[in-house]
Amino acid sequence: MCGIMGVVGADDAVRVLVDGLQHLSYRGYDAAGVAVMAGRDGQRRIEIRKTAGTLDKLKSLLSGQPVNGRIGIGHTRWATHGAPTDCNAHPHTDKSGKLAVVHNGIIENERVLRQKLAAEGFEFRSQTDTEVVAHLVSKYLGETCDLHCALRKTLDVISGAYALVVMYIDEPDRIYAARKDSPLVIGLGQGAGYVASDIPALLPHTREMLLLEDGDVARVTGDEVIVWDRNDNITVRQSKTIMWDQEAADKGEHTTFMDKEMDEQADAAARLLAAPLMRHEAPSRVVFVGCGSAYHASMVGRELLGRLAGIPSDVMIASEMRYEPELSLEGTLCLAVSQSGETADTLAALRQAKRRGASAAAIVNAQDSSIAREAEAVQWMHAGPEIAVATTKGYTTQLLALLRLSLEWGRANGRLSASDAREWEGELGKLPELMRGALADRERAERFATAHIAPRLVFFIGRGLDYATALEGALKFKEISYLNAEAYAAGELKHGPIALIESDALVVAVCTQSRLTAKTVSNIREVKARGARVLALCRESDEAGLRAEADEVWTLPDAPDEVMPLLAILPLQRLAYETAILRGCSVDKPRNLAKSVTVE
Ligand code: AGP
Repeated sequence: MCGIMGVVGADDAVRVLVDGLQHLSYRGYDAAGVAVMAGRDGQRRIEIRKTAGTLDKLKSLLSGQPVNGRIGIGHTRWATHGAPTDCNAHPHTDKSGKLAVVHNGIIENERVLRQKLAAEGFEFRSQTDTEVVAHLVSKYLGETCDLHCALRKTLDVISGAYALVVMYIDEPDRIYAARKDSPLVIGLGQGAGYVASDIPALLPHTREMLLLEDGDVARVTGDEVIVWDRNDNITVRQSKTIMWDQEAADKGEHTTFMDKEMDEQADAAARLLAAPLMRHEAPSRVVFVGCGSAYHASMVGRELLGRLAGIPSDVMIASEMRYEPELSLEGTLCLAVSQSGETADTLAALRQAKRRGASAAAIVNAQDSSIAREAEAVQWMHAGPEIAVATTKGYTTQLLALLRLSLEWGRANGRLSASDAREWEGELGKLPELMRGALADRERAERFATAHIAPRLVFFIGRGLDYATALEGALKFKEISYLNAEAYAAGELKHGPIALIESDALVVAVCTQSRLTAKTVSNIREVKARGARVLALCRESDEAGLRAEADEVWTLPDAPDEVMPLLAILPLQRLAYETAILRGCSVDKPRNLAKSVTVE
């Protein structure tokens, strides 16, 4: 969600900025822009090029109106305050045009500040909260001596979440960066310094990076970086060498990131199986927090924890949990589930849980992310970079991490016998191969998608663990193919939703749970009787029975019930993908969505 790139000391700042923004475009955006320090000495000025729409539009703007310089800041905007227009695109400037600002996050007291500034004579050109920051810095520059002081004073009056980068004509050899609840990374290059909202943007230039912490302000020049902590004391933030390669974040021979990431799922599972488990004693109670797919994975986690380790747990949508007033979590482990590790709601829920007496652990993919740093113990997902907005390998590695933790805690608290534990090890060993088998049938998904390119509605139904799979399958359909897809616990259909079923409805019935398949079959009959077409997803061993009920049956390899969510989601991801491709949708960057949701 929004991308920031800044550079000091580049031969061609515009190229570095646009290239960096390109690497961040997976986060989702609807406008883009750059500000570059141009000219010298008395002639120095900030040149801005910005536009609603894509980075390609920005590039053509730049080729029509080129600008050169060694210092600049750039931004991809995902609209929060005001429509995605040229005017609302970042960077924003003060009235004098002497300073420029880019910002990720939301300034929550924007309205009050805007009114105050307007009353003081500041004129607003955009509807953004970011312009408030530009005017505030400008106002304090008028009162104080330097950009550092002015920025600090600004941070003292704004509230909310932000990653900010500022440049100023009178301090032409540097840019300033500040963060609170929104990530910001500094890259240490040879004679050049960089700032970005995520690591991939910096990898073409350097592997030496420094991660800012909440409340930090940093001054970046070509030769050095100085960091002040939240109390304005100079502090040392240890730099890190990033070991992973840019190729891991490139498409390779695949046409889309989502296609690549779906294919990588079996390898990611194998990697996670070979990796160590987080060290944490078996908890007596757990509350899961997550959003979207991570919430669905948590639903599976709750069931697995109960069955395999006898540990009671609750699952809460993070955005709901963060405002739950009556919550006491003494003696509970809060397990935050997040691929990006930066989801604002999940981070806030984890913090809330800590305040309510819980201990904090997390299942996270992105190293050095805010949630990982906030948790006392982290289970890494080992999925590798996930770029497509719709999560695939992120989801399956979350499921696998939850399965492994449940088994480990079940073994530790005596719920699982040594021989059960050994048997499970054997089952998990087979998983990557089983996943490869379930991933294989692309052509079939393509054929099915062609035959059902635009159903009026798609229902996903299932019971127990299959209900979580149905929810995740429907989410995949909604977000990338924009179809009207809804998931229901199969037994709920008769309490209302079945009223929508007519002959133009498509029902995807997930039937992989051995003790519940017969029940879901009854629900298949109910929707068939009302004219729906039914695609059933089941184990090989149930194929014959389902053939007599559904219009089409897709089989999955036989595995224990607890493993089936890892297999059943694979054809649903592929089906959503092929449908989206046929419908001409932008699969990697669906409309209105962002990869890491860093605002509330
Ligand atoms: C899933 O495809 C989504 N794009 C979305 O629901 C995602 O899972 C959610 O925003 C949580 O993200 P996180 O795992 O990075 O916290």
